[in-house]
Amino acid sequence: MAETWANGLDLHLDLTGTRVRVKLESELREAVRTGRLRPETRLPSSRTLAADLGIARNTVAEVYSQLVAEGWLAARTGSGTVVASPPEISRAAPPRERAADSRAGHEPVISPPRYDLHTGVPDLSMFPRREWLAAARRALTAAPDHRLGYGDPRGLAELRTVLADYLARVRGVRADPGLIVICTGFKHGLDVVCRALRATGCDTVAMEEYGHRLHKKIVAGQGLSIRLLPVDGSGAVLSAAGHGADGAGAMLLTPAHQFPLGVALSPARRRALAARDGIVIEDDYDGEFRYDRQPVGAVQALAPDRVIYAGTASKSLAPGVHLGWLVVPPRLLDPVLAGLSGTPSAVDQLTLASFITSGDYDRHIRRARLIYRRRRDKLVTAMAGLGLRVSGIAAGLQANLEFDHKEVEYFVTERAAHHGVAVSGLDEFTAEGASDRRAGLVVGYGSPPEHAYTAALARLTAVLASLPAQHRPAQH
Ligand SMILES: Cc1ncc(COP(=O)(O)O)c(C=O)c1O
Repeated sequence: MAETWANGLDLHLDLTGTRVRVKLESELREAVRTGRLRPETRLPSSRTLAADLGIARNTVAEVYSQLVAEGWLAARTGSGTVVASPPEISRAAPPRERAADSRAGHEPVISPPRYDLHTGVPDLSMFPRREWLAAARRALTAAPDHRLGYGDPRGLAELRTVLADYLARVRGVRADPGLIVICTGFKHGLDVVCRALRATGCDTVAMEEYGHRLHKKIVAGQGLSIRLLPVDGSGAVLSAAGHGADGAGAMLLTPAHQFPLGVALSPARRRALAARDGIVIEDDYDGEFRYDRQPVGAVQALAPDRVIYAGTASKSLAPGVHLGWLVVPPRLLDPVLAGLSGTPSAVDQLTLASFITSGDYDRHIRRARLIYRRRRDKLVTAMAGLGLRVSGIAAGLQANLEFDHKEVEYFVTERAAHHGVAVSGLDEFTAEGASDRRAGLVVGYGSPPEHAYTAALARLTAVLASLPAQHRPAQH
C-alpha cells in the first residue's frame, strides 16, 4: 500500500494483515530506524493519516503516542508530531536490546530511559569543541600538502612525537615515536595486535573474566583461544594464565583500573607480571582519571620489550574522535604493521597533535577529572545514605555496587529502566564460563551531561531505596 501524505511526504506503508495498529507501529518504527523518515520530519495529523490509510483516527493517535513514549517520535507544541532527533532515537532502541540480550526472561522494559547511567561513553557534552576547532585550524594551516597523502603506516610523525612525550610524562610509558602506531581506537588496536600475535605463533590469550564481550569476540575472531583469568581484590589472578609451554602466550589486562570491577592490579602482581614471559596487552583506557592520588604508572615501563601499551581518546575526549595508539615492543613492530588494517584521518591526527601541544588536552583532562570526581563523590554519598558501599578505586568513569544475589541485580536494572534510568548489571560484562558470577551494578556516572546527572542519581537512589524487602541489597 503506497500512500501520499498531505504534507508532501511519500512513504510506503504496508498495513496488510489483521493487526493494523501493531503493523502501523512497526512500519513507522522501521521507517525512522532506517532513516526513511528523517529527524524533525513532520508527520501528518492523526486525522489525515487515518483518512489516507482508511483506518480509525484513534488507532493512529495511539500509535503516535506509543512511539513518542518510546522516543522514536516527538510531540512538538504548535507543529504536531515529528520524527525525534538522533539523541532521542539512539536512546529508544538499546534498552530493549540490552534487556533481551542479557536479562532475557525478566520483566520487559516499557519506557526508554531518560537518564543514561550506562558505562562506555564520557560526558559528550563536555567535548571541547572550540579548542578542537582551533587545533584543526592551526593544524591544517601549518601542514604541508604532502601531509595529506597516504603517509607513514604508523601514523603521522607529528602525533607520534607528541604522544611519546605525553605518555612518558603522564603515564610513565617508555615511548619511542618510532614504536608508536596510531589506530582508530582500542578495538582496532586489539584486532591488529591479535593478528600480529597469531602471525608470530601465539595461539592463546589470557583475558580477565570481567570485561567487554566485544573484546573477547575480537580476540576469538582472529583465531586465538581465550583463557579466563579470575579477578579478585588485587586485580587479575595472573597464575591462571599458566606457565611455560602450557601458559597463554599473551595476556590482555586493564592494570590501572580493572574494567568493570574497578580494582587496580596490586604492586606484587605488577612485579609478577613484569617477571613473567609472554606478551602483555595493557589496556589503559582511563589512565588519566584517578581521583584520590597520582595514578599508578603504566606496567609497560617495567617491561617495554614485552608489553604493548594501548591508549585511546574514547574516554578522555569522545569515542567519535576515533583515535587510539599502541606503543609496541621493537620485535612486534613489523608484525603489527603487516596486520594493520587502515589508519585514521591525517587531518584528525594533526588536530590531536596540535590539541595536545597547545596544552588544551591537559586542560580538558583536568577539568573533566574534577567533574567526574565530584560525580563519583555524590554517588558515594548517596549510596552511603542507603547503607551501600561503592567498590573499586576512586578512578575512571564508572563505579560498582555489589549485591549478594543475581536476583537483586536483575530486579534493580529492570526497576531502574522502568523509572527511566539505564544502568548495567555486571552480567553484561561477565564472560561465559567465568569462575564466579558476581552480582552488582556498573554505574556509568561519566555518561550523562552535567545538568542531568543529579536527577539521574536521584532516580537511581530512589529505586534502590524503594526495593521490596526481599530484593533490598544486603549492606556491605
Ligand atoms: C575496558 C575498555 N577498554 C577500551 C575502551 C576504549 O575502546 P575504543 O578505543 O575502541 O573506543 C573502553 C571504552 O569503552 C573500555 O571500557
